[in-house]
Amino acid sequence: MKGSEKMNVAILGYGVVGSGVAKVLKENSGIIKEKTGHEFKLTRILDIKDFPLSEYRSIITKNFEDVANDESIDVVVETMGGVEPAFGFVSACLEKGKHVVSSNKELVAVKGAELLEKAKKNNVNFFFEAAVGGGIPVIRPISRCLAGNEINEVAGILNGTTNYILTKMITEGVSFEAALKNAQELGYAEKDPSADVDGIDAMRKICILASLCFGTHLYPDGVYCEGIRRVTLADVAYAEKYGSVIKLVARAEKLSDSKVFAAVSPCFVKKSNMLAGVNDVFNACLVKGDMTGEVLMYGKGAGSEATASAVVGDIIDCADNSEKRKVFGWKNTDADILSNYTEKETALYVRCTVANKPETCRSLKEIFGNVVFLWRNNQPENEIAFVTPVMEEKKLRKILSTTGITVITTIRVFG
Ligand code: HSE
Repeated sequence: MKGSEKMNVAILGYGVVGSGVAKVLKENSGIIKEKTGHEFKLTRILDIKDFPLSEYRSIITKNFEDVANDESIDVVVETMGGVEPAFGFVSACLEKGKHVVSSNKELVAVKGAELLEKAKKNNVNFFFEAAVGGGIPVIRPISRCLAGNEINEVAGILNGTTNYILTKMITEGVSFEAALKNAQELGYAEKDPSADVDGIDAMRKICILASLCFGTHLYPDGVYCEGIRRVTLADVAYAEKYGSVIKLVARAEKLSDSKVFAAVSPCFVKKSNMLAGVNDVFNACLVKGDMTGEVLMYGKGAGSEATASAVVGDIIDCADNSEKRKVFGWKNTDADILSNYTEKETALYVRCTVANKPETCRSLKEIFGNVVFLWRNNQPENEIAFVTPVMEEKKLRKILSTTGITVITTIRVFG
């Protein structure tokens, strides 16, 4: 490591984010130098594809050893996605004494603690601002600006594709299927959209945030994860009557017994809640600090340039800390820190099919107590929708199973 203000950068994976990083480093080199004093030179790009027309064709390689064995490379940017071969490549770079910056949420969610440990051992930095919230500064504000706080709760709208689909359903009355098709046409959703619409992408991101906020690695295995495929326009209409919108909310909470609650699911979010106003492909992360109170970080959660902007921020931080490892990250654990999500208290929106409406309403009130009934235009004769009082989810579901009604869907109420 030279420690000079001029640093050489390599990119692993010249896709949407990787090419964005090359663009930001080139187009904003002047402003970066002016603001930080640093100059960066892109000297290697690793990709399995050929780019014969690229201005970078002379530095593109298919051979990882060209990066790993090049001692002049100071910072390696990993924008490949997936756990392997990214994990092997990142590990090798850290072991060779190179700083690594990653935008890969799957890698950080699954291997973050291990890679942070490798970085520590080799006295280099492993940063991943772009892994959560795309271009929104989230990781660094939580780990530095809010370091004087104990954080016990973090929640967010962490997936732009699903937020776009839900916004379309809410504002234009478009069905889930049509909104998904539109998101695919616009390039937000992949051809296979499951990582987004089934909540997996948001779940990886909340694992990273929970690890960072609470200090111990929360592994994705076992985290409750429900996507938005079952959300219908009927549910959107009932949510409106409850003064709410439906959002895919990822949330985590540190519990008093050192367990962590974490879950991703569609939720009714009251319009008065800050997350309710986060629309289209935008993301937001809501953190509760014991000193600062609620902090909302909001912005573009995806896209080539926005995400590249976060990567470049990390590259600059590597240059600021080129001779040493910045104290950053969380510890690993073998313990099962994940709580049983059904023990969390919540209110539930329930949509069900029933034969006799007035009778059922009376008996539901007797069973649950303070039930809020909802209505919508063109409500079928045999459909009832209501919101239960707040209680342990498993207790609520047990009661529901004894009512004899046919439940079509349930959605949690956030907050
Ligand atoms: N597919 C993600 C989203 C983008 O839609 O938010 C990057 O995480």
